Amino acid sequence: MGKPPGLYAPLVRETIADLYRNPPLEERLTVKGWVRTRRTTRKVSFVELQDGSTLKALQVVLPHEGISAERIEKELHTGAGLAVWGTLKATPDRPQPFELVAEGYELYGPADPETYPLQKKAHSLEFLREIAHLRARTRTFQAVFRIRSGVSFAIHQYFQERGFVYVHTPILTPSDCEGAGQLFQVTTLPLQNVPKHPDGRVAYEEDFFKRPAYLTVSGQLEGEMLAMGLSKIYTFGPTFRAEPSHTPRHLAEFWMIEPEMAFYDLAMTMDLAEDFLKYLIRHTLRHFAEELAFLTERYEPSLLAELENTKESAFLRLSYTEAIEILQKSGKNFQFSTEWGSDLQAEHERYLVEEYAQRPVIVYNYPKAIKAFYMRENEDGRTVAAFDVLFPRIGEIIGGSQREERYDKLLQRMQEVGLDLFAYEHYLDLRRYGSVPHSGFGLGLERLLLFLTGMTNVRDVIPFFRTTDQMA
Ligand code: 4AD
Ligand code: MG
Repeated sequence: MGKPPGLYAPLVRETIADLYRNPPLEERLTVKGWVRTRRTTRKVSFVELQDGSTLKALQVVLPHEGISAERIEKELHTGAGLAVWGTLKATPDRPQPFELVAEGYELYGPADPETYPLQKKAHSLEFLREIAHLRARTRTFQAVFRIRSGVSFAIHQYFQERGFVYVHTPILTPSDCEGAGQLFQVTTLPLQNVPKHPDGRVAYEEDFFKRPAYLTVSGQLEGEMLAMGLSKIYTFGPTFRAEPSHTPRHLAEFWMIEPEMAFYDLAMTMDLAEDFLKYLIRHTLRHFAEELAFLTERYEPSLLAELENTKESAFLRLSYTEAIEILQKSGKNFQFSTEWGSDLQAEHERYLVEEYAQRPVIVYNYPKAIKAFYMRENEDGRTVAAFDVLFPRIGEIIGGSQREERYDKLLQRMQEVGLDLFAYEHYLDLRRYGSVPHSGFGLGLERLLLFLTGMTNVRDVIPFFRTTDQMA
C-alpha cells in the first residue's frame, strides 16, 4: 500500500478536532495519530485513532480485502503511531457521526503490546504518576494539560487587557522572599570539598556569584521594584520551595502568578483577586466544555456545578479574628489549635469554606507573627494587612498583602525576624526613594488547576512533577 498517492491534496483539515468541527464528508484525506484501541472481525478491523486535538477519537475502518488482516494484527496495537488515508463517510446509524474508510496506512512507530504500559482501560492516577512521560497519551491528561494551557493564556489576557506589564523576574536570587527558609541553594562549589575559612564559614567568595545564591521562592521582591516604576505588573513563572512534606497540595517546583500594584490598598487587591479568579473560571467554562464534561464524569461529579456556582458567588470576607471566633464556636473537634495567633490549618480552611460559607472565603488581617516580614502592619500593632483566598476542596489558592512601604517599620520588622539585611539592600532602597502604598498577591497555578479540573493532587496538573523524593 505504501505512501498515499499524489492525488491526495495537502491536508487542509489535519487534526481530528478539525474533522469534528467541519467534517469533509466523501473527501479523501490523510489523518495521523495513535491507536487507542483496535478490534478485528473477519472482514474488517476498526481502529480508534486519537491525536490529542480533541478527546474524541476518529473511527477508522480497515477493510481486509484492501489491507491484509495479518499486517493489521501484527502492527496496529494500542499506542502505535501511524498515518492513514481513505474517505470520510457519514454513519448516521452509529454512535459516532462519521468514520474513515481506509485505503492504506503507514506505520511510523509500533508499540509492543507485551511491554507498552498503557492499555484501553482507565488506569489509576497513581499508576500514571509512575509513567509521567507517557501520560500525555491518556484523555485525562490531555484534558488537564489543555486546560492548563488555556488558563495560562487567559491569565495573560486578563492582565494585558487591564494595562499590567508582564515582567520576567529572576530565578536565581540572593534573598528568601518569604523568609521561611525553604530554599534550594545553587552553587558551583565542589560538594566533596567545600572551601572554608579557618573559622569554619564557607568561603563563598570562591562560589560562582561570590555570595550565596538560591532558586527563587517568589518573584515578589523584584516585582515590587518594577511596580515602583511601571505601576501595575505581573509575573508568571516557576518558583521553587524545598518543601519536605508529602501533601497533595505542595510541589517543590510550581508556577506562580504575582501581580503587584502601586497605589492599591488591601481592599482593592482583594477585589482584584476575586475578579481575576472568576474570570479564569468563566474562561474555562466557555472554552473547555468537552474537557470539563469528561473530568466531571470521570473524577469529580460536582465539578461543573461548582465552577458555575463559584463564578456567580460573592466570596465571603472574614477578618482572621472573625474566622477564629467562627472556628471556636463551630463545635468541631479540630486537631490543631484555634487560639487567636495560631495559623489556620487545612482542616480550619476547609471548615470555613465547605461547611460555614459554602463558597470561597477571603480571610484578611492575620496576626503579624505568622506572616511574612514585608506585610504592612495595621493600626492595632498586632495584625498585618494580609489576605488568603480559600477555595473548596483545596484551601489556600492565593496569598497576598499590602506591603510595608514605611522604611522604619520595615527595617524594624526585618531586624526582628533576623534577616541578613545585606541581601535586601535594594528592597530597602524602594522605601528610601519615592515609596508609595502598594499591594499584590500570588496565585498558585497548580492549586487553581485542582479546582478547575477536579483533580485532587497537584502532581496530576503539572506535566512533570518535582516533590520531595520524586522527579517524574
Ligand atoms: O502564600 P505564598 O507563599 O505567597 C507568596 O509567595 C507571596 N510572595 C505572593 C505575593 O504576595 N506576591 O504563595 C502564594 C501561592 C499560595 O497561595 C499557593 O497557591 C501557592 O502559591 N503555593 C504552592 N503551590 C504548590 N506547591 C507549593 N509548595 C506552594 N507554595 C505556595
Ligand atoms: Mg500563603
